[in-house]
Amino acid sequence: MHLEETETMHRKITDGVYYVGVDDHHTALFENLWPLPFGVSYNSYLVVDDKIAVIDTVKNIFTQEWLDNIREIVDPEKIDYIVLNHMEPDHTGALPKIAELAKNATIVFTQKAAGMEESFYNVGLKTKVVEDLEELSLGKKTLKFVHVQFVHWPETMATYLAEDEVLFSCDAFGSFGALNGKHFDDEIDMRMIESESKRYLSTIITSYFKFVQRAIEKVKGLGVGIKFIAPSHGPIYRKDPTWVIDHFDKWSSPELDKHVTIIFGSMYGYNLRLAHTLKKELVELGVEVKIHNISYSTMDNVITDAVRAGVIVLGTPTYDAFPFPKIWAFVNEMEGKRFQKRPIALFGTHGWGGGGVRKLKKYLEENKFEILEPNVRCRATPTEEERQAIKTLAKNIAEIVK
Ligand code: FEO
Repeated sequence: MHLEETETMHRKITDGVYYVGVDDHHTALFENLWPLPFGVSYNSYLVVDDKIAVIDTVKNIFTQEWLDNIREIVDPEKIDYIVLNHMEPDHTGALPKIAELAKNATIVFTQKAAGMEESFYNVGLKTKVVEDLEELSLGKKTLKFVHVQFVHWPETMATYLAEDEVLFSCDAFGSFGALNGKHFDDEIDMRMIESESKRYLSTIITSYFKFVQRAIEKVKGLGVGIKFIAPSHGPIYRKDPTWVIDHFDKWSSPELDKHVTIIFGSMYGYNLRLAHTLKKELVELGVEVKIHNISYSTMDNVITDAVRAGVIVLGTPTYDAFPFPKIWAFVNEMEGKRFQKRPIALFGTHGWGGGGVRKLKKYLEENKFEILEPNVRCRATPTEEERQAIKTLAKNIAEIVK
């Protein structure tokens, strides 16, 4: 499917450098997993010099709109280099079409990307594999390729335009949220960008936080000026490029935040009551608490609030002698996204045999998480002893995060 009748739009970033990306208000779930209530943008850039380079393409259904944006500046057939910072199809989906038009172009990418391109598209253009920090002259402008492995795939690189000090940073420093004609940080409500870029980082890139940290160190270590950060999703930072570097640094840092995130399931309200009792105790101890009922919060918001929490609290009813299925699903995300190890507190209710908390504890301990004592297990209404156990658990949590 192609979207034929859409408004075209490019934006000049600086002389000879243009945004030619597109907004997506069509995809409900990024990666068919993560909600996009404000849409998303697929950013692509054109650098026009003696030679013409396009940096990244867009998701395939937006190919026509993207080509129209390019045509406002140059004939796509005249493109000399197609720089693929990252092979994921949200950035390479239009490659087959541009390859048909720009028959003499050369694809520029890393060695790992070359193997992926053959498998995904195999468009048959000339190719140039670039080493880390290799340069390519376009005439008066020079592109320098900076390998940033695992931000977000192993083949990923960023591209630095030296003369204009533009870092085309790929998925690093990206955000959910369509741009709607406001392409720059000084044109956009940054409260929305702060929340959407944190949700983007937490859902897409949590597994690779240490690579984000490495990429930030590497970019800083280049010792070059950065006037613009132009990522592959979300706004271009020209007013304050350090804002996004500092935020991504903080959000991917191994130093966790001082808040607690309680995630609980509840079938008939007994576990909900325990969750609220624990929350009350924590708040009275001066602890910042985020809380999610796993049946009603979406997984992206649960992950975003949990990934930086100093302590995660899981509350589960026993369901068929196991933890509540949606709590299991969150634990699976923690594992799959390689959540940093940190203390976990557990509580739960059961009608008769129990097993939910016990099985969670066993699984988490096998996966090297420290489990805080006491584990609070009640039938329905907590006994006086169990109420005391909740107070003790709250104190033990507070000692860690305060
Ligand atoms: Fe936006 Fe990893 O692709």
